Amino acid sequence: MLQQTSETVDRAVYPSLRDKRVIVTGGGSGIGEGLVEAFVAQGAKVGFIDINDGASEGVVARLGDADHAPIFRHCDVTDLDALSSTLADLEELLGGVDILVNNAGNDDRHTIDDVTPDYWAERLNVNLRHQFFAAKAVVPAMKRAGGGAILNFGSISWHLGLPDLVLYQTCKAAIEGLTRSLARDLGRAGIRVNAIVPGNVQTPRQEKWYTPEGEAEIVAGQCLDGRIQPSDVAALVLFLASDDARMCTGHEYWVDAGWR
Ligand SMILES: NC(=O)c1ccc[n+]([C@@H]2O[C@H](COP(=O)([O-])OP(=O)(O)OC[C@H]3O[C@@H](n4cnc5c(N)ncnc54)[C@H](O)[C@@H]3O)[C@@H](O)[C@H]2O)c1
Repeated sequence: MLQQTSETVDRAVYPSLRDKRVIVTGGGSGIGEGLVEAFVAQGAKVGFIDINDGASEGVVARLGDADHAPIFRHCDVTDLDALSSTLADLEELLGGVDILVNNAGNDDRHTIDDVTPDYWAERLNVNLRHQFFAAKAVVPAMKRAGGGAILNFGSISWHLGLPDLVLYQTCKAAIEGLTRSLARDLGRAGIRVNAIVPGNVQTPRQEKWYTPEGEAEIVAGQCLDGRIQPSDVAALVLFLASDDARMCTGHEYWVDAGWR
């Protein structure tokens, strides 16, 4: 059988995702854009937040003809007051929240010498803190709905121990602990919490870090040929967000083409 490409694969449709109310953080570009597009294609009602207004407005324009056009709100996830009020605003516009995808993050490279107490706080705020507070903010709405699904974006990076990412990797490691803790505390309310662990996904920003030789090195380290696309990550997120995954919680799910 020929290996499918992200263009040729015939993607699943989940009836349980139709009309679901979904919030995606960092939905304006990269993997987040792929998530917004994938949920919209399932007939879900999607609200997303981002700091990149131009890219986000482009996503809204591109998907404007969908059954439910996505809604964009500018919000910096490191500003907890803004995060709380923007999530409340989206909850009202969507009529509730069933699914939260904590996707926003920033993988700027840094050395140990670069890390000051301020930089420590800034990196943890952009990569970790908001995931907890966004989850906390939507839990009441999910409880009212009788349950929900929260998906937290981790990363393969700390599992590999990549260079020049000490704080990013510290956050991504913590996200797996956060996920298991939330899953335990929220499970009896019917709220499932899982982490997504992507390998190296070909996004415009990643192209900034990798030369063609670097990309070839990643593919050589994978079990599978080819580059992971945002739609491949979205496929896993859709499954875990759907009712088909009703007994899946408290774990990490990988989409990394077998990168070691
Ligand atoms: N691309 C990869 O190879 C890869 C690998 C492992 C994990 N991840 C994780 O997947 C998630 C998405 O990564 P990506 O590669 O699409 O990143 P990206 O940088 O391409 O996109 C991130 C999005 O989040 C937004 N964002 C950044 N800071 C924000 C803030 N303070 N407030 C609101 N929005 C903000 C950006 O504007 C952007 O639209 C991240 O959590 C990342 O750590 C990505």
